[in-house]
Amino acid sequence: MATILIHPDTQSAIRATAERLLQAVQGDHDAVLGLATGGTMEPVYHQLVRRADEARLSFAGVTTFNLDEYVGLAADHPQSYRSTMNRLLFDHVDIPRNQTYLPRGDAQDPSAEAIAYEAAIEAAGGIDLQLLGIGRNGHLGFNEPSSSLASRTRIKKLARSTLEANARFFGAGERMPTHAITMGIGTIMKARKLLMLAMGASKADAVAAALEGPVTAACPASILQFHPDVTVVLDQEAASCLKLRDFYEDIHPGGQEVYFAGNS
Ligand code: PGA
Repeated sequence: MATILIHPDTQSAIRATAERLLQAVQGDHDAVLGLATGGTMEPVYHQLVRRADEARLSFAGVTTFNLDEYVGLAADHPQSYRSTMNRLLFDHVDIPRNQTYLPRGDAQDPSAEAIAYEAAIEAAGGIDLQLLGIGRNGHLGFNEPSSSLASRTRIKKLARSTLEANARFFGAGERMPTHAITMGIGTIMKARKLLMLAMGASKADAVAAALEGPVTAACPASILQFHPDVTVVLDQEAASCLKLRDFYEDIHPGGQEVYFAGNS
């Protein structure tokens, strides 16, 4: 079963997520991290940068692979996920830029770019810890409902609900891309550990479907039920539709990880 940590408030969920990323680097200075973008992750990176600075933690040996990038946006476009990651994280830690990977949204041949991206993940030895958000429609990365649960990095058309949710990041009159290069669900499932963060009432239905519903391509995040090492960090609102919420809170009161101590 997934480790489901329901935090008393949003700040605590953010801190716990950032702390796990920090610990992954502290535990392995050459860690390969899978990263995510989206509104959920912005405060996580703020917190991570702050904590890394306090701990004087070096990212010099770390390699990162982001989940996805918009097709058609050059790296220097302000709304590209490359720009976003530079602004939120890479500009603030000592990670060499050539160890930070995102698919190139303006690649001449986006399909070839997707295949090369998958190969680059393999060549780096695979992802140790993959950070994930969840879409209101249950998407993972840009794997929209109906995505193959075995899919690898490829081009996907964005669902209407995703376009609507992400339109806020684009200025009036600015054309939002309609396609993305995204790691596949099979790619994500190969990561050794998964760490999902969801916050707010708008995610409650998707979280419940993912954790307690059937495993189905109609809710791509439901595939997490098949991963052997997944932690889901939630705030109160995101947890509000979980049927077994009491049980999860009994196991991890206040969202704290409690280990079974055999003789206590
Ligand atoms: P959000 O996106 O953090 O902006 O809600 C998450 C996602 O769509 O995976």
